[in-house]
Amino acid sequence: MNLVFLGAPGAGKGTQAERLTAEKKLAYISTGQILREAIGAASPLGNQAKSYMDAGKLVPDDLVIALVEEFLTKNVANGGFLLDGFPRNLEQAGALDASLKKLGKSLDKVVYFDVNEEIVVRRLSGRRTCKGCGKNWHVEFSPPPANMKCDLCGGQIVQRKDDQAETIRNRLVVYREQTAALAGYYEEKELLVRVDASAEVEEVFRRLLKALAC
Ligand code: AP5
Repeated sequence: MNLVFLGAPGAGKGTQAERLTAEKKLAYISTGQILREAIGAASPLGNQAKSYMDAGKLVPDDLVIALVEEFLTKNVANGGFLLDGFPRNLEQAGALDASLKKLGKSLDKVVYFDVNEEIVVRRLSGRRTCKGCGKNWHVEFSPPPANMKCDLCGGQIVQRKDDQAETIRNRLVVYREQTAALAGYYEEKELLVRVDASAEVEEVFRRLLKALAC
């Protein structure tokens, strides 16, 4: 199964990806998580990406396309994969088509997590994230430990800088202007499956498995 997860910031892509990759043993890349790790490590990639991410803008295409090409080249022979947060505009979608063609692979499905903006704002503003491993909690729906230390890696649990109100607004504008059009792009290719992602986590996961017919 070669998959893309598409949907607004906060739609629950990362939360569902964690469950699906554990169950189906898919190779997984979240471009957002890799970029955050690069920023944490103050690597050249992180230094280039930081100002864009802090402002809620897309990081330049050439940087993320290179990341995904490297991931695909390393993982494509090992079974299925899941791309979370990539592609995010039509240029990236075209680059992905070209990379997969070169590797003799194709996508099986693109899952669109459908949820309204009121819900995503609530999810994003309440999200808390481990600085070490990226694990997520939510102050209301899955509260973090009282000492704000991650139960997986012991890292500090914080609010992501781009989960502040103003940056959330910017991310949603970027999503509407650049990413939402990808639903139509993949619908035309008959790859798009829609999942109503407004329910609680386990119910969304059941819907996801049903949509993937697995
Ligand atoms: P990225 O990290 O990809 O962020 P995003 O797409 O904005 O998505 P999120 O991680 O914010 O949300 P999600 O849908 O994964 O939701 P989650 O499961 O965490 O990208 C960040 C930045 O990196 C971008 O702004 C950009 O700058 C850059 N970037 C990344 N990829 C790029 C690319 N391809 N090109 C250019 N730039 C790129 O859930 C959210 C919260 O809700 C959590 O607290 C969770 O616990 C809770 N929750 C989840 N599901 C439910 C549910 N069903 N019910 C209740 N709570 C729920």
